[in-house]
Amino acid sequence: MLTITTILELQKVMKAWRLDCASIAFVPTMGNLHDGHLHLIEVAKSKAEKVVASIFVNPSQFGPGEDYDSYPRTELVDQQKLEAVGTDLLFMPTVMEMYPDKIQTIISVPSISGLHCGAFRPGHFDGVATVVCKLFNIVQPNIAVFGRKDFQQYTVIKTMVKDLNLPIEIIGVDTVRSDDGLALSSRNGYLNPQQRLLASNLHLSLCMARETVLTKKLPYSEIEADSMRFLQKNGFEVEYFSICRVDDLKKATLTDAELVILTAARLGKTRLIDNLCVTLS
Ligand code: PAF
Repeated sequence: MLTITTILELQKVMKAWRLDCASIAFVPTMGNLHDGHLHLIEVAKSKAEKVVASIFVNPSQFGPGEDYDSYPRTELVDQQKLEAVGTDLLFMPTVMEMYPDKIQTIISVPSISGLHCGAFRPGHFDGVATVVCKLFNIVQPNIAVFGRKDFQQYTVIKTMVKDLNLPIEIIGVDTVRSDDGLALSSRNGYLNPQQRLLASNLHLSLCMARETVLTKKLPYSEIEADSMRFLQKNGFEVEYFSICRVDDLKKATLTDAELVILTAARLGKTRLIDNLCVTLS
């Protein structure tokens, strides 16, 4: 596996691969890789001849008081993991390489970015969309692979790519979970043993809500309120629990068939997010 830290050097390799007509799949990450990330690499490998991963803890998507400084940085182990699953190239730029000057241009998808997580993390999705757009321009992949665990992020990126006619196919990959249902996340490492036991209730709340949506017995607002009470009883401080339309993440109505149930909740200081899709016949 090649490991490259500068944009210029990366672009030389990309140019050579493109001249060889190799298709390129890209998996952007912030590192501290778990099996969910490695599954994204496997999917990328099945879709293209060359796989590029990036590790960059992007400061512009963290708000004041968030965990940018303490975000787990485990580059050496990450490098070994990526190499073991057959990644061709790792791009690992510094903050200076990505943002040499104060950035003047922001990519924003305001109709989606202000909802759900965006209401609690102002500016977060602008930071994500901007850095992903920069990485797309640097790598110029044919395909980019994202986890559907970050469903709102995945929707923001798909919308950006469509609106800006970026010639990149976006692939969404299902969430990888622990045996008890907890979605794998780098932030799970912040949980103490007692919180870790409670954490599986986040997925359980989504499964119960999905069952009730499918039976069509309760208005969505009541299902949301019941789910929030269930999570609160299990030690969570709930930010939101929302039954939405899959396309634009606006509140679902009874005429919508493709839904996604989104939630974010805190156990102590750790913020967890998860979601489940529901199709109504
Ligand atoms: O999902 C992530 O790890 C990050 O938000 C991403 C897409 C790498 C952008 O920094």
